Amino acid sequence: MAVVTIVGAGVIGVSWARLFDAAGWEVRLSDPRPDLDELVDRELAGVPVTATADLAAAAAGADFVQEAGPERVEVKEQMFATLAAHTRDDVVLASSSSSLLPSVIARGNPAAGRIVVGHPFNPPELMPLVEVVPGPGTAARAVDRAVEVYRSLGKLPVRLKKEIPGYVGNRLQKVFNSQCAYLVQQGVIGVEDLDDLVRASLGLRWAVTGPFESGALGGGPGGMRHLVEHVGSQLTFEDGSPDPARMGEVLDAVEETYGTGEQAYERLVERRDGRTRAVLGPLGWPEQTAKH
Ligand SMILES: NC(=O)c1ccc[n+]([C@@H]2O[C@H](COP(=O)([O-])OP(=O)(O)OC[C@H]3O[C@@H](n4cnc5c(N)ncnc54)[C@H](O)[C@@H]3O)[C@@H](O)[C@H]2O)c1
Repeated sequence: MAVVTIVGAGVIGVSWARLFDAAGWEVRLSDPRPDLDELVDRELAGVPVTATADLAAAAAGADFVQEAGPERVEVKEQMFATLAAHTRDDVVLASSSSSLLPSVIARGNPAAGRIVVGHPFNPPELMPLVEVVPGPGTAARAVDRAVEVYRSLGKLPVRLKKEIPGYVGNRLQKVFNSQCAYLVQQGVIGVEDLDDLVRASLGLRWAVTGPFESGALGGGPGGMRHLVEHVGSQLTFEDGSPDPARMGEVLDAVEETYGTGEQAYERLVERRDGRTRAVLGPLGWPEQTAKH
């Protein structure tokens, strides 16, 4: 049985653990948190996992490593130094990082050629995408292997041609979310209505066509060229951006709408996962993705 070592047992690490287990991997999980055993009992009930604070021990004998520790470059550097020293030289070391450059994570690391970003969308066990981002020092065979592993998990790995901070998904998300906050700050729309608006339009559209395919369709038989020249030419307004000093107002409104704390979080997770599972199959995503 192939062995995966997952580093970090937070939101993302636990979800990776379920996914690798469902695909038939032996799962090892490493995290220094004092409540690791309780967390595993609670979050991974029924999933056979070896959990330990000792990263070197968890890494020894791994066939693939998926790091999901804190998003802090100095912590990542330290974790990858340990991983480099305790894994075979054919083992890919993939980071779940949301924005850090693989070349920065791999700085000074003797295993730089094996380090790649494998950025999932939350929760990895359900969302099909994994962005595979090589640094300039990442070996092509490491990228190939990461793509192969993610595909075998039922994911859609998308391989970037080169690294860029935030990669593609989070660069798009940053711009979009900034405009959402701006519109709420401007008093144009409330938090819940904005979410409804997106779910009922762009969210649904982009789940079945990407922005460019939508553009090709939006212009009718004239294609995206017609759309850009016709409708697009009139979109001349300034975008505006949210006032950082007033972000508190937006966060208050989000908390008022959705709540905070364990109970609210669990309720939202259940609703999100239920809806996601309901659409994955009909949209043609592999069964494995929708399994849990
Ligand atoms: N949350 C998201 O939506 C999301 C999505 C995609 C990618 N990511 C990325 O995944 C990674 C994990 O994010 P998260 O949201 O699960 O964070 P989290 O804070 O929920 O979990 C991080 C875990 O890392 C553990 N940790 C701390 N030091 C460690 C060490 N030295 N070795 C091993 N584990 C250690 C912590 O105890 C914690 O359990 C980050 O790089 C993040 O950018 C997050």
